[in-house]
Amino acid sequence: MNRCRVAATVAGMEPSVIKDMAVRAAHTPDAVSLAWGVPSFATPAPIRAAVSEALDQDPDIGRYSLPDGIVELRAAIAARHHEATGVLVDPDRQVLVTAGNMQAMSTMLKVLLEAGDEVIVTDPGFCSHVQQIELAGGVPRYWRLDEARHWQLDMDALPALVNRRTRAVILVNPSNPTGRIFARDDLLALAALARRHDFLILLDDPYSDFVHDRSTPLFNLSSEPEWGDRVVYMFTFSKAYAMTGWRLGYMVLPEELKREAVKVHDAELICAPRVSQVAGLAALRLGQAHRQECARVIAARRDQICARLDAMHELFAYCRPQGAYYVFPRIVASHHDSREFALRLLAEAGVAVTPGAGFGPAGEHHVRMAFCVSEQDIDRAFDRLDAWRRRHRGM
Ligand SMILES: Cc1ncc(COP(=O)(O)O)c(C=O)c1O
Repeated sequence: MNRCRVAATVAGMEPSVIKDMAVRAAHTPDAVSLAWGVPSFATPAPIRAAVSEALDQDPDIGRYSLPDGIVELRAAIAARHHEATGVLVDPDRQVLVTAGNMQAMSTMLKVLLEAGDEVIVTDPGFCSHVQQIELAGGVPRYWRLDEARHWQLDMDALPALVNRRTRAVILVNPSNPTGRIFARDDLLALAALARRHDFLILLDDPYSDFVHDRSTPLFNLSSEPEWGDRVVYMFTFSKAYAMTGWRLGYMVLPEELKREAVKVHDAELICAPRVSQVAGLAALRLGQAHRQECARVIAARRDQICARLDAMHELFAYCRPQGAYYVFPRIVASHHDSREFALRLLAEAGVAVTPGAGFGPAGEHHVRMAFCVSEQDIDRAFDRLDAWRRRHRGM
């Protein structure tokens, strides 16, 4: 039998390390998984109730919406964006409802890239971005960040990465996987560079609700109207509203880019699922209290996991995360590489973590741990790591 021919880009692509570990954990009886950033919370009851009501009463609920999303949701998004950033945007011309930030990013990369165009990603950074750039025909360029400088942006290294093929820089702030909150001055300098060299900043924002310390506030670059022509802001409901399975997000973007993006978005999926859009509208109506409470719980889990890591310095050294819900410790115990180490932890301790090498070359010899899981699971994972460490003392 002939083998099916597939595109070389796809055949040469590794599956995402995050999903690979999540699948392995799911197939390992009784494993505790810190591998995947799925919050332990249920989607809030008012969101589910609004969807139930729409399913019962709205004859349009099973139909497509217009490609850029239902009018009420886009209006609510524009209002939320104004509340969060102080910037007024036009819901018809600058807001596009997406099926989450993965789809938003994939759409924008297709809008921007021609074969061989380059996109700069932080190293370490979110692994799926590299795959998405390659699928869109582009070339990822790694912007190496230094753990000794707590993974902050390295503005001195950036100009050497920019050339006439550079079309965008992708940023996740607070960072996945490091939990670093990037400095305002660095972000403003990046925006100035973007204007000078005519590239865009694609701000992938799942985690801005999760900022753990007052001393490190988050600066959202899309709150500066001066750089509005340079920034595409992508928000996802997945994390802030425990809606990972609903597949919903939105983009706020310059009008001329929205026109192009809607063409790609329509060609890919027509519209975000209408039931999820109804859920998103209910989410935006929840008000601040819900988000503040989730952020408080996640910050407490940050303290919990850091306390457990502090007691495990024979295995790990780490930078304390300032935001998001990941910690990215360096493996201090003897090991070959991060993948071998993560597979060993799963097989021998029953704990799944994500190998750091999947987040870029600078991530090698690290693992990512997600602390959006329950307090009990954090403790269960670390009790097991502790027992494993005692069994392997002197490794
Ligand atoms: C940086 C980043 N972007 C995008 C996503 C996925 O977002 P969505 O569920 O909206 O596709 C994640 C999920 O972990 C993420 O960490």
